[in-house]
Amino acid sequence: MNWSALETHPVVEGRRIVPGEGCSKRPALALVGEAPGRDEERLGRPFVGKAGQNLDSFLAALELERGAIWITNVVKVRPTKASAKGTVSNRPPNRAEKALFTPLLLDELREVSPRMIVTLGNTALQALMGPDALIGAYHGRLTACEAVGKPLFALYHPASIIYNRSLQAVYEEDLRKLKAQLALL
Ligand code: URA
Repeated sequence: MNWSALETHPVVEGRRIVPGEGCSKRPALALVGEAPGRDEERLGRPFVGKAGQNLDSFLAALELERGAIWITNVVKVRPTKASAKGTVSNRPPNRAEKALFTPLLLDELREVSPRMIVTLGNTALQALMGPDALIGAYHGRLTACEAVGKPLFALYHPASIIYNRSLQAVYEEDLRKLKAQLALL
């Protein structure tokens, strides 16, 4: 994927693009997150820093290596907001960011052609299954992603577990189901 053409787009201008990385040719799995955070922007890589620790436990549970899968986000620039004092923090991606990057994500996934797509949270699920898809209805089971032509397995975003501890057990059970699905590939 050539991202340089996007650098002058008004949504992207002046912001660092964090591309997907990993095994780019028919990996067992492509993991799709929401958007890069501070550490990802600083290093120019998806799922590093705090989110990388979540990713490590995800990979350990599935007995997969980071280099064996494709790791990406819907939005490829860090969505930020500034407080009155000027402190910069993350925010959810807005409509313009999602509209710009969603078609590019579809192209990316068609090109990488994973055997299965795993989405983390609502933003990734909705980018691939449409705006009415909700994680509460889709998590923990395989569904067909017609936009890419691949099976899709939806998980809660690990960050949401921090805010809602009751999701921890659900997330762990979903990971067990995902592992069983991967064994059938
Ligand atoms: N880091 C990422 O790269 N993506 C997320 O969805 C969260 C943190």
